[in-house]
Amino acid sequence: MKKFVALMMALILALSVCAVASAEGAKKVGIAMPTQSLERWNRDGAYLEAQFKEAGYDTIVTFSNNDNDQQVRDLENMLSQDVDLLIISCIDSDGLNTVLNDAADKGIPVIAYDRMIFNDAVSYYVSFDNYTVGKLQGEFVRDALDLDNAGDKTFNMEFTGGAPTDPNAFYFFNGAYDVLKPYIDAGTVIIPSGQNEMGQVGTEQWSTDTALARAQNILGSFYGDGATVLDAWLCSNDSTAAGVAQAIESDYAGDNAVIVTGQDGDIANLKNIVDGKQTMTVYKNVANEAIVTLAVAKAILEGGDFDGAAFAAAQEIECAYDTESYASSEGHPTPSFLLVPTVVTKDNLDYLVGTGLYVMGDDGYLQAAK
Ligand code: GAL
Repeated sequence: MKKFVALMMALILALSVCAVASAEGAKKVGIAMPTQSLERWNRDGAYLEAQFKEAGYDTIVTFSNNDNDQQVRDLENMLSQDVDLLIISCIDSDGLNTVLNDAADKGIPVIAYDRMIFNDAVSYYVSFDNYTVGKLQGEFVRDALDLDNAGDKTFNMEFTGGAPTDPNAFYFFNGAYDVLKPYIDAGTVIIPSGQNEMGQVGTEQWSTDTALARAQNILGSFYGDGATVLDAWLCSNDSTAAGVAQAIESDYAGDNAVIVTGQDGDIANLKNIVDGKQTMTVYKNVANEAIVTLAVAKAILEGGDFDGAAFAAAQEIECAYDTESYASSEGHPTPSFLLVPTVVTKDNLDYLVGTGLYVMGDDGYLQAAK
């Protein structure tokens, strides 16, 4: 009997040593975020790192200062450290071919995170329904101006889009413009600047200052007579909305409340919403985006292909499985998991508190939960 006990103790000890060894041999995940200069990506990076570390993965997290060459170097460094998976929110959807071809040669799977990447090394795409984000913004302006009951009344509005290197920017702008185009074509909605294409309304690096300068230029050129009313300004996200709101405050002579849209629920913009300088933001729960990304990563690392539809249906977080809308190259659709965005205005800020990611301060403004 004593021999048996000794043998079992030795076996348990050996297994525990293996367990420690497997923890040391944990799989390694590279998480490449575009920048820290835009609020949301700091949240994405933190949530992703926490999720993967908690699940027992080693992680390498980088922020590439909105510099595509830097992101290439960061990804090359991850490959040199033998990562088992890459999770990338790209700066330039066409700018990663060399390093991603290298990843493909090494058999390293790639999850395109939030922004699609046009390289077939991408295995899966996890994001929100980006066209719907824009659609929600367009519908908000349509309903706030009550365009369906405009009669002979006309409305003036402008557009500010996102970074031309970011494929999301085109989905956002197209989703919004497709809603408003019938009213523009009918002459109910007028764009005094005449700028109605991404080539005209795009904002390099989603820069607040660039959005501010363009808005000031448009206000001075087309609204400077003090008589032309600006009814709405559709901005594709909060960093650009911050610039537009600042321009309206400093350079618009009208005394009407201008409808301003945004996206992301950035803290400064939520304050602007309380103060009436911005009217809405499209909120995307990036903590949930990180959870779904972890689930996809686990499925990839534990065993190759999996039933995406069943996987999406099994998630506690609502996400659609889409095999048509996004492609890493022509004719090469990428299996995508798309979470659901939510419109937030001053009337439902409690929705954000309910996520547990925001708290209402004594000053009446939302703050990030600690
Ligand atoms: C987009 C992202 C948005 C927006 C923008 C700036 O790709 O989906 O949330 O904020 O980048 O980061």
